[in-house]
Amino acid sequence: MAMKMNDIIYKKREGGKLSKEEIDWFITGYVAGDIPDYQVSALLMAIFFRGLDREETFQLTNAMRYSGDTIDLSPIKGIKVDKHSTGGVGDKTTLIVAPLAAACGVPIAKMSGRGLGFTGGTVDKMESIPGFRTSLEPEEFLNQVNETGMAVIGQTAHITPADKKLYALRDVTSTVDNFGLISSSIMSKKLAAGSDAIVLDVKCGDGAFMENLDDAVKLAHLMVDIGTDAGRRTVAAITEMGQPLGLAVGNSLEVIEAIETLKGRGPADITELALRLSGIMVYLGGKAASPEEGCKMTEEALKSGAGLEMLRRFIAAQGGDAAVVDDYSLFPQASVCRELKAENSGYVAQIAARTIGLASQHTGAGRATKEDSLDLAAGVVLSKKVGDAVETGEVLATFYGNDETKVAAAMEAAKEAFVIAEEPVQAPKLIKEIIGL
Ligand code: URA
Repeated sequence: MAMKMNDIIYKKREGGKLSKEEIDWFITGYVAGDIPDYQVSALLMAIFFRGLDREETFQLTNAMRYSGDTIDLSPIKGIKVDKHSTGGVGDKTTLIVAPLAAACGVPIAKMSGRGLGFTGGTVDKMESIPGFRTSLEPEEFLNQVNETGMAVIGQTAHITPADKKLYALRDVTSTVDNFGLISSSIMSKKLAAGSDAIVLDVKCGDGAFMENLDDAVKLAHLMVDIGTDAGRRTVAAITEMGQPLGLAVGNSLEVIEAIETLKGRGPADITELALRLSGIMVYLGGKAASPEEGCKMTEEALKSGAGLEMLRRFIAAQGGDAAVVDDYSLFPQASVCRELKAENSGYVAQIAARTIGLASQHTGAGRATKEDSLDLAAGVVLSKKVGDAVETGEVLATFYGNDETKVAAAMEAAKEAFVIAEEPVQAPKLIKEIIGL
């Protein structure tokens, strides 16, 4: 009997379990344009309230994974390891972990995203490097990984079209923050992108989709289960996103911080996170006997400069000017620079990541609409982190951009991100849990 969308909506509305056939049918029909947005919206809302069980989530992931092209990475030798962050503020981790893991012999063939809302995206960041190409032909992409050790490109239009359509619909129907929908969305893309193993950085806190630890743990387990069921080694680290990661937020500012980190001069939190995640990647890539040994190898790659050298080669291979690594004046420059100063002394108790992310967006570093172009020089650089002591009049953060009004508005918006306490404050734990090792 022919399926009807109305029956599928009804079944989920009443708390029923969707079959593989029903899920495949609605995804295929939706991508083909045969099922209208209003019916899919109703189904999404039913899913939002009734949820998806492990099997339904897996079937939805697969239906989206195969809704378009999938990447065959078999021409690349070795165990390919991917890394994905669920999205945060100041998260330039890919630009550090990818070169470190590649320098330890793990081939990295990665697709990254653009910024979304108040969160940044690796593709936008890489575009602040003059000449850098974020789009490569499939053969070029594979050859570059074999020859250089790594390649990072933007997602092609033909990968997981079902996720693209569903994500856009979820965005406007208040159905984004659902465990089954988030995990299937992320994992469909990761599985279609073809790597053998996946390291997930599940952000937790005010600047992330998952604001509390229990939710982040639940999401991480779901994604690890999907990856495992699909035959991919999958590990998830739950990491702090209550305050921005590192000090820099904004495209070229974050690339500069990533370079500084590869030079051994990065902030402590981003350095620690990058070493731990890349260590796990080296282990999953079969180049170390344990994650700890992997971490020692990536530490060595950082100390010896091998990671920095890999970054240089990667930038040049994708048409970028590798001289930026030694000369930051080659990045787009900001003409406006303003400092936010502390109004009282004490200890920094909070730097709300979401507020800083939004402030950075206001400077011009992020998009308010899909069509907006970015000011790649714009953003925020913190001078303090949670736990630091601060004196009245000391600089808390510096705001960059090319539009006086935007920078002033951003600074105003960022003020409320900072909470100064009288008593000493403990810095938050960076890596909260690791699942799947
Ligand atoms: N990132 C994604 O790719 N999908 C989601 O649903 C949420 C975050």
